[in-house]
Amino acid sequence: MPATLIVGAQWGDEGKGKVIDLLAGKADVVARFQGGSNAGHSVHVGAEQYVLHLVPSGILYPGTINVIGNGVVMDPVRLVDEIVHLEGRGLKVTGNLFVSDLAHVTLPYHKRLDEANELKRGADKIGTTHQGIGPTYADKYGRIGIKVGDLLDEPVFLAKVRRNLAEKNAFFREHYHIPEMTEAEIIDPLRGCLAKLAPLVTDSVRLLHDAMKAGKKILLEGAQGTLLDVDFGTYPFVTASHITAGGALSGTGLPPAVLTRQIGVVKAYTTRVGAGPLPTELPPEEGERLRIIGREYGATTGRPRRVGWFDALPVRRAAMLNGLTDLAITKLDVLDHLDEIPVCTAYRWKGKELAEFPNRTEVAQECEPVYRRLPGWKTVTSGARKMTDLPDNARRYLDTLAELAGVPMGIVSIGPKRDETIFLKEF
Ligand code: GDP
Ligand code: IMO
Ligand code: MG
Repeated sequence: MPATLIVGAQWGDEGKGKVIDLLAGKADVVARFQGGSNAGHSVHVGAEQYVLHLVPSGILYPGTINVIGNGVVMDPVRLVDEIVHLEGRGLKVTGNLFVSDLAHVTLPYHKRLDEANELKRGADKIGTTHQGIGPTYADKYGRIGIKVGDLLDEPVFLAKVRRNLAEKNAFFREHYHIPEMTEAEIIDPLRGCLAKLAPLVTDSVRLLHDAMKAGKKILLEGAQGTLLDVDFGTYPFVTASHITAGGALSGTGLPPAVLTRQIGVVKAYTTRVGAGPLPTELPPEEGERLRIIGREYGATTGRPRRVGWFDALPVRRAAMLNGLTDLAITKLDVLDHLDEIPVCTAYRWKGKELAEFPNRTEVAQECEPVYRRLPGWKTVTSGARKMTDLPDNARRYLDTLAELAGVPMGIVSIGPKRDETIFLKEF
């Protein structure tokens, strides 16, 4: 059975959690393939709201298996906290969640390094989530990382921690001039959580291949957004993982042919948390209005999200990089009150018009958006359940976004709840 990828097509927080939850009811397996506890995926079920960081968004269905794949960086303490929290709310986690033995582990020294790096960068800081993501991937690619499999092999784990800690401490002391960390600071927080974690650890590659061969329906849950991809995003203002379709394969071990449907999630406008270019960013007062209506505050850090108009250029780039087959457009309802809505169709840079998102971040920083202004609809849309329930101008707005992106619409979301959704296709 082919797999479906759900990927953010902007700078993250597009509403992936809601879209995954919508599709997960019909899926057998939901797998995360990159990122770590930097992700914050909000899912509303009735009056309940869940914010998931490491646990895949299929966990709300008792019949769906959830996998933290090999491409993820996993903070064991945060994962166990999340599991305990979800179990406390009555969800079945044990038996429904599995963690790859190949995933890399985030430890307290990674978080300390993340914070120290940011502090040292000063005005050039990336605005990371301080979850230790960059330093964990740096260790992975530096071939000194510690895998989940190591975590369960005490002598191996301790030897690796000792070696790495000596190196990190030299760095803390000599480069950052901050206090060193003790072995106890790394090991002690793990003591309470290994017993909970151990039964979840598995060969996720085998699990996913068996599911594929058995014809099970697999969803691949992206975190962050394409413009935060370490290769294709607005470097260095990116996260440290491969967010795009290629990352879904390397982060799970599934073969390329399994991917037949790639759903790009986009907001009907644009947001970004942290530093880096956001060409359609609104001036503070206008941005604040949309931020309040759209509740645009980070699910992981609580930081206010930067807000801008819909920008077709990053979405077109995401369409190309991921081979998007469908768009899921979220948060249309947030624009209900507007008389007129600008949509960015191109950039102006040094007297030239650019139709493609520039590779160089320095160029993106200097781009001025070229806007097409579309009429608003000034009608509450959250009650719509089919396209014909929407006002003409709202339909025209959505059609324009899909046309500019070059990807057909599959889902429109007009509120955070499950039923506040219009399906244009069968998923
Ligand atoms: P993710 O990281 O891509 O999963 O997105 P987040 O969960 O961080 O942010 C999206 C926010 O928008 C969450 O609070 C969702 O509950 C909410 N949301 C999702 N879809 C809609 C929608 O169509 N309308 C409104 N008003 N809120 C939505
Ligand atoms: P979800 O999955 C939005 C951003 C951070 C920062 C940059 C690097 O909820 O869409 P990191 O901690 O990853 O090293 O930070 O990436 N960032 C996100 N922005 N949504 C996310 O996840 C993000 N995860 C990381 O704000 O700019
Ligand atoms: Mg989020």
